[in-house]
Amino acid sequence: MRRLLVTSALPYANGQIHIGHLVEYIQTDIWARFQRMRGHELHYVGADDTHGTPIMLRAEQEGLSPKELIARVWKEHKRDFDDFLISFDHYYTTDSPENEQLARTIYLKLREAGLIEKRAIEQAFDPVKEMFLPDRFIKGECPKCGAKDQYGDSCEKCGATYSPTDLKNPYSVVSGATPIRKVSDHYFFKLSDPRCETFLRDWTQVKTPLQSEARNKMKEWVGTEGESKLGDWDISRDAPYFGFEIPDAPGKYFYVWLDAPIGYYASFLNYCQQQGLNFEEWVRPDSKTEQYHFIGKDILYFHTLFWPATLHFAGYRTPTNVFAHGFLTVDGEKMSKSRGTLISAHSVIESGLNPECLRYYFATKLNASMEDLDLNLHDFVARVNSDLIGKYINIASRSAGFLVKRFGGKVSDTAMHHPLLEKISHSNDAIAQFYETREYAKAIRLIMELADQVNAYVDENKPWDLAKDPARESDLQHVCSVILEAFRCLSLFLKPVIPSIASNVEQFLSITPMQWQDISKTLSSANTIQPYHHLMSRIEPSQIDQMLAANL
Ligand code: 2FM
Ligand code: ZN
Repeated sequence: MRRLLVTSALPYANGQIHIGHLVEYIQTDIWARFQRMRGHELHYVGADDTHGTPIMLRAEQEGLSPKELIARVWKEHKRDFDDFLISFDHYYTTDSPENEQLARTIYLKLREAGLIEKRAIEQAFDPVKEMFLPDRFIKGECPKCGAKDQYGDSCEKCGATYSPTDLKNPYSVVSGATPIRKVSDHYFFKLSDPRCETFLRDWTQVKTPLQSEARNKMKEWVGTEGESKLGDWDISRDAPYFGFEIPDAPGKYFYVWLDAPIGYYASFLNYCQQQGLNFEEWVRPDSKTEQYHFIGKDILYFHTLFWPATLHFAGYRTPTNVFAHGFLTVDGEKMSKSRGTLISAHSVIESGLNPECLRYYFATKLNASMEDLDLNLHDFVARVNSDLIGKYINIASRSAGFLVKRFGGKVSDTAMHHPLLEKISHSNDAIAQFYETREYAKAIRLIMELADQVNAYVDENKPWDLAKDPARESDLQHVCSVILEAFRCLSLFLKPVIPSIASNVEQFLSITPMQWQDISKTLSSANTIQPYHHLMSRIEPSQIDQMLAANL
């Protein structure tokens, strides 16, 4: 039995969960559910990422304290994750006593190791609001084309890239004032220290089986000896800042990206305390447990450089692996507010769509690479209706009625050795391997091929014709039994993706919750099949229109 700690990236506590986020939570959840079905001990933890300037300012805009804002958003996020059947064992917040304690301890260990350095730096400062300004809170005119209201890094009009100091007539987005330059002390994590370089080169290039794209990226940064591009990492911010104060540094706060990943551990620690699990056993350097982080490719740097270095030099184990996915596009384009394609998780539910449809569709698209994936809305409707309803659900609806009405809900035990069923159950290793390696698209393709073969068997054996011939009573029971057992196997294979439908199937077949090893069992006449109730409805195109309208 394996012991696994699994996380998804922690969403910021100032916005709604949208379908872009859901790609990651669904990807992680399918993997977590699969591993649990295999009988492994798995803990899937998450939390809201609550600190930093944007959240502080957002709260102010809404007339709330940061703590009030993050409490409200936590509830919304939790609701959305529950709606989409994301099976977190624990969902917490980075604004917790555990996280503060862990962040301080880790920082002090890094300081003890001689890896923290204080340095004065000059930055943009809003003299009216009396706060330092992160780059995205400064706008001005593009130095190249003169377009107004451009951000400090690039121009949306002409595409030029530059640094915030190049902007003409810069102004603070917060107060409108012209920023001034101001010096203050900052604390740096010395990633340029030879010990960090050596560690990270080994961790990213040798020790960790990173995705090849990730490994190559990191190779660029960590380089070979003597050519590292790693700069020291500024882990402090000046007050006013919503976050944790740094020990022995009044008025200085940990940068949100320092305490966010520590939030994975803080969530797990809080959960361990509730569950009576031994946290130390999971996080000490010689731990025999596995630790996986699912993330988007945009935050790879934080998870494959900063986070492992932080853990290692503070005396903790490092991640077993980090799995990055690509971005979601909708109908081939970047999600956009004006097209209504920045689709909130809640609007999907409000449009009456079954969340398992989206889980299924994403599964048909997901693989182990960092390539982007597309939600094509037309294809979404067609695919779900033809695969889930047309190929899968219909198998049950076409056979169960006869068994219930004519045979008291009993399958024929002799039907359970049919070659078609052997073939299906023999596919279990291949399907498991696809789930294990996050090649969900391949798993689904194989499952749907099997469903096609079951449907071909139904069409050849025509239970509806057999039912008309009293002399073929036992053939009817045999054929329907084969079909329903095939349906059970397909349901087992799909369970990580459509867990709620699978659970309804378990009730309908009167079987215990399916574990992966149950593939070697079969239905039996000892169980009574319950009357078939509709397991799922088709998607209507009008529901998609309604969903898009809700996001405009
Ligand atoms: O990029 C983001 O949305 C961050 N809130 C992710 C944090 S992941 C972890 F490190 F906490
Ligand atoms: Zn420009």
